[in-house]
Amino acid sequence: MKKRIFSGAQPTGSLHIGNYLGALKNWVALQDEYEAFYCIVNLHAITLPQDPKTLRQKTLDLARIYLAAGVDPEKSTIFIQSDVPEHAELTWVLSCITRMGELERMTQFKDKGKENTERAGVGLFTYPVLMAADILLYQTDLVPVGQDQKQHLELTRDLAERFNRDFGETFKIPEPYIPKAGASIKSLQDPSKKMSKSDDNPNGSIFLLDDADAITKKIKRAVTDSGTDITFDESRPAITNLLTIYQLLTGKSREDCVEHFAGKGYGHFKAELAEAAVEFLRPFQERVNEYDDASLNTILKNGAEKASAVAAFTLDQVYKRTGIK
Ligand code: TYM
Repeated sequence: MKKRIFSGAQPTGSLHIGNYLGALKNWVALQDEYEAFYCIVNLHAITLPQDPKTLRQKTLDLARIYLAAGVDPEKSTIFIQSDVPEHAELTWVLSCITRMGELERMTQFKDKGKENTERAGVGLFTYPVLMAADILLYQTDLVPVGQDQKQHLELTRDLAERFNRDFGETFKIPEPYIPKAGASIKSLQDPSKKMSKSDDNPNGSIFLLDDADAITKKIKRAVTDSGTDITFDESRPAITNLLTIYQLLTGKSREDCVEHFAGKGYGHFKAELAEAAVEFLRPFQERVNEYDDASLNTILKNGAEKASAVAAFTLDQVYKRTGIK
């Protein structure tokens, strides 16, 4: 039996190359070796206010992005979270064994709710429990994510261990899969911050659907560090970030990248990086509209059916072990 993968992304904002290089790229690379479930997590999206009409559209757009990135519906299960109600049901059970203190320590809640904890939504606070439910329902072995999700994965493991201890062996303990390069792509405008869908400044991110002109301008305007060498150097986070993007987009080794730009300046490097990004995204953007609405709906319907079968089995066991059934 193949081992199982689960991962997902939120249908909010626009996906950027950080999402691709940190997560989607690995989803695609791992789908042959594993039985993969890739979810569009629309229930997570409403932890912050969303425009209802846009949310539905973005949910379907994100499915197209998964497909364009190379997730193959013949190999992997692609589905919308709300089509499988077990996600919300297991969240309730898990929230009853989650401690307030554990959720208070989640840095994402602290970041997103920090302006006003009094007014922050309860959903934003309990969000990591829903994420744990997503993963545990599928008896997941491996979860490919970027660095920012590591703490949520640790909570997921703790909850699974606690449930197994208190109610008997039920959940598999999942492992995170965080890539060595690309796990935290930084903003082009501020390399101390991660590239983020919710960044107010669009110049910090290269979006997967940006056109050639926008990509070139954003890379030209990207901040750089002092010094002129084009090398990987932790004390120069801006160039290290740009070079990491170049490395991952071109598939070259670190050494080849450094050698390639030896003796060249920022102007030359940025022009080549922009070209690499444009060339990389062009075929991706052509594939985004490959599926008509009817075929997309069929893929999502089949995905939800496959996911439901697994999720219902796990939830049934959870209900039996806890005395609900
Ligand atoms: P989301 O939608 O914010 O991001 C989707 C994926 O992209 C990764 N990522 C990055 N990787 C590298 N550099 C960056 N700058 C960067 N920004 C984002 C994220 O780590 C993520 O892997 N909570 C999740 C969605 C989720 C999920 C799950 C993931 C819900 N349930 C279960 C895995 C398993 C989130 O908000 O991702």
